[in-house]
Amino acid sequence: MTHDSSPHSPADTTDPARRLTIVVGISGGIAAYKAVGVVRGFVVQGHDVHVVPTEAALRFVGAPTLEAISRNPVHTSVFDDVAQVRHVALGQQADLIVVAPATAHTLAKIAHGLSDDLLGTTILASTAPLVVAPAMHTEMWRNPATVANTELLRSRGVTVVGPADGPLTGGDSGPGRLSEPDEIVAAALAVASRTSSTAHDPAEEARVDDLAGLRLVVSAGGTREPLDPVRFIGNRSTGKQGAAIALAAARRGATVTVVAAELDGAVLRTIAAVPGIRVLPVSTALELETAMRGEAAANDVVVMTAAVADYRPAEVSAGKIKKDDTGDEMVVRLVRNPDVLAGLVADRGVDQTVVGFAAETTDDRDELVALGRTKQRRKGADLLVLNSVGWSAGFGSDDTAVVVIDRDGTDVAEARGTKHEVADALLTAVAALRAV
Ligand code: CTP
Repeated sequence: MTHDSSPHSPADTTDPARRLTIVVGISGGIAAYKAVGVVRGFVVQGHDVHVVPTEAALRFVGAPTLEAISRNPVHTSVFDDVAQVRHVALGQQADLIVVAPATAHTLAKIAHGLSDDLLGTTILASTAPLVVAPAMHTEMWRNPATVANTELLRSRGVTVVGPADGPLTGGDSGPGRLSEPDEIVAAALAVASRTSSTAHDPAEEARVDDLAGLRLVVSAGGTREPLDPVRFIGNRSTGKQGAAIALAAARRGATVTVVAAELDGAVLRTIAAVPGIRVLPVSTALELETAMRGEAAANDVVVMTAAVADYRPAEVSAGKIKKDDTGDEMVVRLVRNPDVLAGLVADRGVDQTVVGFAAETTDDRDELVALGRTKQRRKGADLLVLNSVGWSAGFGSDDTAVVVIDRDGTDVAEARGTKHEVADALLTAVAALRAV
């Protein structure tokens, strides 16, 4: 999605020294149309993208579209331009290869080194980091053959992004949906910046590493407060914003720890697959507090995106609560959880930057800023990121809009776009604050 006011991160560069040569392989599934968004995501960040669709992929999306979006010719056959030895040249030149969507068939081919088309030879001839984003029906994803092929690829260092859980073609629903293009792009660029490729040296210089040496811990997702062994009080956070911050920070050279409360499964798998990102799973607010306090001292930047439950049940039943025992009405007594962010601010280390988020149910910018300033007086974070949430905004969505205020309540940044774009804008604001 295009936004005129998209923030410009250091990765949004036309600097040729920072330009990666990226091969995007597309295999033949209905999700092939979404690969256009992946190609575009790399192109708008200034990278040189070469699309290699399989023959089957071209039945779902046309070569002219892929050529127009990638701004490069599109070939599928090993017999095109034989004199240029294209079947290995692309793979040798690549700094990064991304296959999206990767069908069950293509995963199997890559796992077993089959190379009966240009995509197969390109992958075999390359030492560049390889990222695959599977998309298929749930039954195919769960088939032992696909499971084994995916594990084989992972064991060889291939990064598997997704698949997400959601509606599939033909009315089915379940794991198998292609991850969102922005997430694939963010994860792939984070992998490229963290993985040493021997393909050729300019890739080393191509890495955007303005946060190199920085240690960042971010909490993400939503906490769950148990009532009994099977029930909990939770919230709708998916962890997408925290994951986007983790991926952007890793791409820009930071060492990243994610304290992951309950996250969308595909988002969790994606960040866990990226080198340079460590994931510490937690569930309750108290567990999150312990983990964040344990990690904070070892980090330069502490970011609290997690939706932390303000209250937890006073008693947790050891066995399942039975209707026969509770009757027609049930009262749950809740007790206050600690304010984790306020505690981290109070114990902030020298040179440490603490960033909080503020979720408010208002669409009005002035009201959002006013509510944020009031919250900032309570929290005292170095930066507080204000965003609107509601029944249909914020949680789970891919786009967002934020206003960032400093300790005095002054607006220091404003960003609108995908959560990945907003993550980059926020990290730029953090870097600017630390440079002062
Ligand atoms: N937060 C926290 N501990 C809590 C509640 C929230 O650390 N018990 C953090 C969140 O991670 C976020 C910031 O505080 O960075 C603001 O969270 P938000 O839910 O917007 O505000 P609350 O403090 O919960 O205030 P209210 O519910 O009254 O809006």
